[in-house]
Amino acid sequence: MRTDTPQPVRLSDYRPFPFLIETTSLEFQLDPSATRVKATLSIKRSGDAAEPLVLNGERLKLISAAIDGQGLSANQYALDAEHLTIHQVPDAFELTTEVEIDPSANKALMGLYMSGGRFCTQCEAEGFRTITFFPDRPDVLSRFTVRIEADAAFPYLLSNGNLWEGGEVDSSQPDRRHYAVWNDPFPKPAYLFALVAGELDVLEDSFVTMSGRTVALKVFVDPGQAPRAAYALDALKRAMKWDEEAFGREYDLDLFMIVAVRDFNFGAMENKGLNIFNSSLLLAAPETATDMDYERIESVVAHEYFHNWTGNRITCRDWFQLCLKEGLTVFRDQSFSADMRGEAVQRIKDVKALRARQFAEDAGPLAHPVRPNSYLKIDNFYTATIYEKGSELIRMLKTILGAETFRKSLDLYFERHDGEATTVEAFIACFADASGRDMSDFFAWYEQAGTPAVSLAHAYDETAKTLEITLTQSTAPTNGQPIKRALPVPVTIGLLDGEGEVLRDSEVVLLDAPASTVRWEGVERAPVISALRGFSAPVNLTTDTRSVDRYVQFAADPDLFNRWEAGQTVARELVLGRAAGTPDEVGEERYADALGKALVDDASDPAFKALLLALPTEGDLSLAVDPVDPAAIHAARVHLKAVIAVHLGDLLRRLHGDLQSGGEFSADARAAGKRALRNACCDLLAADPHAVNVERVVGHFESAANMTDAIGGLSALVAIGGASAEKALAAFHAQWRHEPLVLDKWFAAQARDPGEGAIGRILALTAHPDFDAGNPNRLRALVQGFSSGNPARFHDETGAGYRFLADQILAVDGFNPMTAARLVEPLGAWRRYVPELGALMRQQLERIREHVGLSKNVLELVSRALD
Ligand code: PHE
Ligand code: ZN
Repeated sequence: MRTDTPQPVRLSDYRPFPFLIETTSLEFQLDPSATRVKATLSIKRSGDAAEPLVLNGERLKLISAAIDGQGLSANQYALDAEHLTIHQVPDAFELTTEVEIDPSANKALMGLYMSGGRFCTQCEAEGFRTITFFPDRPDVLSRFTVRIEADAAFPYLLSNGNLWEGGEVDSSQPDRRHYAVWNDPFPKPAYLFALVAGELDVLEDSFVTMSGRTVALKVFVDPGQAPRAAYALDALKRAMKWDEEAFGREYDLDLFMIVAVRDFNFGAMENKGLNIFNSSLLLAAPETATDMDYERIESVVAHEYFHNWTGNRITCRDWFQLCLKEGLTVFRDQSFSADMRGEAVQRIKDVKALRARQFAEDAGPLAHPVRPNSYLKIDNFYTATIYEKGSELIRMLKTILGAETFRKSLDLYFERHDGEATTVEAFIACFADASGRDMSDFFAWYEQAGTPAVSLAHAYDETAKTLEITLTQSTAPTNGQPIKRALPVPVTIGLLDGEGEVLRDSEVVLLDAPASTVRWEGVERAPVISALRGFSAPVNLTTDTRSVDRYVQFAADPDLFNRWEAGQTVARELVLGRAAGTPDEVGEERYADALGKALVDDASDPAFKALLLALPTEGDLSLAVDPVDPAAIHAARVHLKAVIAVHLGDLLRRLHGDLQSGGEFSADARAAGKRALRNACCDLLAADPHAVNVERVVGHFESAANMTDAIGGLSALVAIGGASAEKALAAFHAQWRHEPLVLDKWFAAQARDPGEGAIGRILALTAHPDFDAGNPNRLRALVQGFSSGNPARFHDETGAGYRFLADQILAVDGFNPMTAARLVEPLGAWRRYVPELGALMRQQLERIREHVGLSKNVLELVSRALD
């Protein structure tokens, strides 16, 4: 049993830092196992005269410390595992410290570490404190100058801002040490600091901003990979242009750099002028990257770039305000992607992701508000709630206030808070001031966890031609929040008639009470109500829509989101009905029929059709029942897929043939949409694996001319299982074993194998020579691919899947707590599962909690999960 109880950090305890750090000068003597960091801080007191100077610092070997050049004696300061405290300091002074650190021993990938023989850093949220002593908090902004010195094995020496000077240190010396000095003119918090050093290839371009300044753009990648950075560079230029047009935001330095590294805990990081990317979100070539990779690269490159204004120029006062930068920046990247790739398709994909990750989180013990008010480790709050739900809140502001006022409010925000570290309150105040509306009710969205349930009932009076729509809302209690308030929920509603003709265009109804009724006059015919168009609020909507009316919507709703949603709702009911022992065979055939009609609709776009063809995932389905029986859901879903595959076999095969494209590869949305539809056909055909279909799927895999088709074929074969799957996996491995990013996909495809005995094969893969738990991409491919992507096997009745996950969490926690903690979530949902499974999940959580030496990161999540 653990005895130490770590203390949480609370929003209500916020105090400003009592000193200003006007300038920060860092000098790095790089060495993989013994790097020296000398920091010179010019400090001014801004708070009380009695306050000591307390700096954060962890795992640092202090070499020396001096104030205004005078070395500190032992009684002038105190050093513990997390701080350097200097008891008495003048009101203005220069502090110099020197420390030694060991980047090569840093497997947590926070602070300064080595990846592929290169130095790189990750400082958000609290990594800077493992580089030097500093007030490592986002509200301390300082002007950084960085001098980096290394030997010739590290030709590029990069940091934030503009390059001031560089060259050889002493050309007479045999080790040919060289140096570079960088200066960042924009004051920034330490979490935005970055340093990269090593051998790299660079792809260069430039961008002329709206005011006519030329910005040099450089993307640095592993030697030999430069051609694979071209797509990211192109996306960057489009993002820069878009941010000028959509938000009036111009880039502010003369240089913008991106570096790709293989070992990275998250996706990417917005360090000022020097973004660092997980290579999986930067490198792309048709042979090695799927369309989904291209799509994510485009959106993440944009996301990190957009942070330059929403995050860097205006940052967060404290980490409780994380959504201030993340929710807003996700909204901006989603809007960008919608403009690049089509609004409806983008919206559907974003909502799918929101439901899969955020709704699941909000429905379990890890539910937390978009602005939490306490944490043990801030690393644990880089969640779908902060990011994706945070973005939904911004979207609702736009829906409620209208595009014009929304833009005016953001203009005001940029003008008012540029150069500051601010709060969500200050942000919302800009919307109130620009619109003249009281936004205090809206704030509850930031403070209240849980997904509201909204229900809609209607009454149509045929003679009076009036329609009454009654909306009600409620939010179930979540951990620590037993009582919930009513929230302002914008519900976009339009009306169709029974033939699918438009009766009324969209209108936004604001539900801001537990219940409210609106009355529409002059509704000429009995309406089909299309509500929550575009998913206008992050809620679970239930309606009194009849099944026939869903088919009207599925065929004709002009709101494509709701057209898709109607199909998903029907499919969900069919699968869950069968899983509960009440199959509806007629309904299944009818659904397959309707899908068939949608497929031959020439007016709709292939990317959209591909989305129509994909059934709700098992994760999605499991959110709609209580308790969850994963095996029953899996079997019922497989059944519905098979029904569709049989019913539409000829059509699917014909489409699959027609959509085959020869000619040159294009990564654009149109071409990707066709590939998506063709792969969706392949996926369905695999659900009816008779010889003709299997042969077609094998052909799909073997003739693939790009990674999208190769993975589509491989996944379909893995789902079928047997000898053709084995053969394909072996061939794929042989072809790609020297390409880490592709090999990740090979692991992920097997992790999702739904077949009997898959757990044994997956376990065996952890001993495969290519498996490396130290690399987060490889680890997640296998472990998260399994725990989140393979519910049928993860929830194996013996508990073997849960045990496997717990073993992995414990192993990784020994060196990378941040990444280990991100694996906990699937176990956290234990209360929603049938009792036999729930108990087994719980057992593993308890086993993890009892583990000696467990990190705070994992401890926080398992404790909350068991609460
Ligand atoms: N701030 C990064 C982003 O969203 C995410 C991140 C957080 C990366 C922490 C690394 C570590 O864009
Ligand atoms: Zn971000």
